[in-house]
Amino acid sequence: MNVVAGESSFGPGKVIVLGEHGVVYGQPALAGPLSRGVRAWSEPAKRTSLEIPEVLSASQRLALERAFARVAKLTGHPPIAVHLDSDLPPSMGLGSSGALAVAVTRLLLRASGERVSQAQLERVAFEMEKEFHGTPSGVDHTTSARGSLILFRKGKATTLRPRRPVKVLIALAGERASTKQTVLALRERQARWPARYTRLFQSIGAVVRDGAKAAVEGDLEGLGDAMNVNQGLLNALGLSSLALEEMVARLRAAGALGAKLTGAGGDGGAVIGLFREPEPVVMKLRKAGIDCFASQLAGPEAL
Ligand code: PMV
Repeated sequence: MNVVAGESSFGPGKVIVLGEHGVVYGQPALAGPLSRGVRAWSEPAKRTSLEIPEVLSASQRLALERAFARVAKLTGHPPIAVHLDSDLPPSMGLGSSGALAVAVTRLLLRASGERVSQAQLERVAFEMEKEFHGTPSGVDHTTSARGSLILFRKGKATTLRPRRPVKVLIALAGERASTKQTVLALRERQARWPARYTRLFQSIGAVVRDGAKAAVEGDLEGLGDAMNVNQGLLNALGLSSLALEEMVARLRAAGALGAKLTGAGGDGGAVIGLFREPEPVVMKLRKAGIDCFASQLAGPEAL
């Protein structure tokens, strides 16, 4: 075993710019990494162990213990003690479990003496992510592992290189149900009215392709419009709420080129607004008591 004291690894959180939920039904999604995320660091130890953060609930602890046991087994139980640090709000649709999976997997693979290939990192991190979420599409951990804007379709991800920086403001719009619950409730509606819901998922797929093209060409207005249309489709699917709609309206009133919920949505969670320069808006909204931050997802400066 090739253990180095003080090793550390970072997994960025993510935002889905376009295409959440449709991606579960085989449609593409556009997603990018956040500057915030989860850091995992290690020290030599007798056996593989994880310090569980105290803030977690009993069920979150259990899921994390199971997920860690899985990744420890897959990487041959390297003798390190792993610690975690996160500046991502958990359970808000910002990819904290995917970020954790990537940070921990990278650390364990490295400690087991392997040269870490991108494909191996994504494969093992996905095994960990499945312990958290059941049957996730894989968009969260893939975005975190790539660290760049991607066009994702189940089983395949393409890295995009946009001509202009894509900068978003992320605002938190209150607590929400788990992704699993929201995805299941939608699955029930889709099973009841399959033709109507299939049309909506196809429309989401089309708007994702349009938006991704606009992002690559540096057409931020085109990307913003795709986000607004996507929000309307998510609302039609029953995935928005008063809290989310109010935040979307607030970001548009503050000058966003486009705004929508991001992640599973439902009753709350995070909203993103596309801005050429989000920082001054962050200052203004924080003064009004809104919990928000800015992040660059991709562009010449980020690449
Ligand atoms: O975990 P969240 O809230 O970021 O949602 C993930 C996105 C979904 O499309 C709703 C689910 C999935 O597995 O892709």
